[in-house]
Amino acid sequence: MEKQLKIAVIGAGGREHAIIRKLKDSPRAASVTAIPGNGGIAQDVPCAAIDITDIPAVVQYCKDAKIDYVVVTPDDPLALGMVDALKAAGIRAFGPVKSAARLEASKIFAKNLMQKYNIPTADYHTFTESQDALCYTREYFASGKEALVVKADGLALGKGVTICLSLQEAEAAIRAAMDEKLFGTSGERIVIEEYLTGPEVSVLSFCDGNTIVPMISCMDHKRARDNDEGPNTGGMGCIAPNPFYTPEIAEICMKTIFIPTVEAVRKEAAPFKGCLYFGLMLTAAGPKVIEYNCRFGDPEAQTALPLLEGDLLSIMLACTDGALDEGMARFKGGAAACVVAASEGYPASYKKGFRIDGIDAVRAAQNVEVYCAGVKQEGGALVSSGGRVLCVSACAPSLELALRDAYRAMENIHFENKYVRSDIGKRALAAGC
Ligand code: AMP
Ligand code: GLY
Repeated sequence: MEKQLKIAVIGAGGREHAIIRKLKDSPRAASVTAIPGNGGIAQDVPCAAIDITDIPAVVQYCKDAKIDYVVVTPDDPLALGMVDALKAAGIRAFGPVKSAARLEASKIFAKNLMQKYNIPTADYHTFTESQDALCYTREYFASGKEALVVKADGLALGKGVTICLSLQEAEAAIRAAMDEKLFGTSGERIVIEEYLTGPEVSVLSFCDGNTIVPMISCMDHKRARDNDEGPNTGGMGCIAPNPFYTPEIAEICMKTIFIPTVEAVRKEAAPFKGCLYFGLMLTAAGPKVIEYNCRFGDPEAQTALPLLEGDLLSIMLACTDGALDEGMARFKGGAAACVVAASEGYPASYKKGFRIDGIDAVRAAQNVEVYCAGVKQEGGALVSSGGRVLCVSACAPSLELALRDAYRAMENIHFENKYVRSDIGKRALAAGC
């Protein structure tokens, strides 16, 4: 019998809750602790309240608690080198080292890498001076083009990308990032890129530095309101598999994007070990990379992981040890749907602090899971404490049934100021899956 491991999972969202629920089931897990976790996660595992951007504090905690394996999920600690610091302290960790995490932490690094290795992506220019960016933009629109995308180079809490449909919008986005420093140092350098159109697909993959095993494809719903209106959010719902991502397209992506990316990161930085997330757009000219993330997506993790067969901990350890095998990560047939309940007003200002009821009753159903995000415990009850509060995920033989079950379950969860998009999966169903 292999040694059982004491695990810590870094993060506080629904994504971490989904990972923790899977890891808890593992025969190889002695215990799971969340750092810092949230009020809902605390019903499942102990939580340690530590600032996850304080790398020395996290490392010290893991040493003191004799943690054997740390799953580092959010982008900030990865970009700050948490995996490197844990390694230096003799603790194994799931996630890329700092130099490989630049794939997400620097859009300029990612774009230059794609250009050098001929990985299909939007045409782009990079700028360090706002005057140069403004000049380029004026010429761009004067040549008759109708849209472009301005991206802050660094991490910006998911807010660093602006789609600009006019010169005025582009000028405002450039000034906000570079002159007004809206994203701090993250916007000192920017990428301006061509505007692409087509269905979007999220493909998360397990990667051990050499071998890459894609998970089931997902379709995120990023906009706050129905019909893909309203501001971008962290994600209001998700379905898997994504019907636009056919086996033929998957084969093209493997050859032209996934394998070349893994090889390029190994050459330019370090072997990528962890979850590599490809944000793709299926354009008329073929699939192109919109963004890389160095971590599981949220709510993609809550959608794909319930369909995962096999032991998540064994797969993660294989990624860390360079022993990943293509057969390890299999996904159930059928489909999954994840619907997010947010606080009305999110992603702008919203009221919170409302009692949440109904979670336990919903969890009693075999094919439904509830994952908590902006949730805390107060006087023995769960109360809302964030923008995205929780999500419900359902697995079923078809997408239609998965959506039906997720929405039915969501009706039984109650808290004041609850807001749910009503059209998750509608586009996918219309596409005929
Ligand atoms: P990101 O923060 O990189 O995930 O970008 C947020 C969203 O902006 C993406 O999910 C896309 O919908 C959109 N986006 C980013 N880059 C482009 C592009 N070059 N063309 C069209 N849409 C884009
Ligand atoms: N759902 C998008 C992300 O996690 O970045």
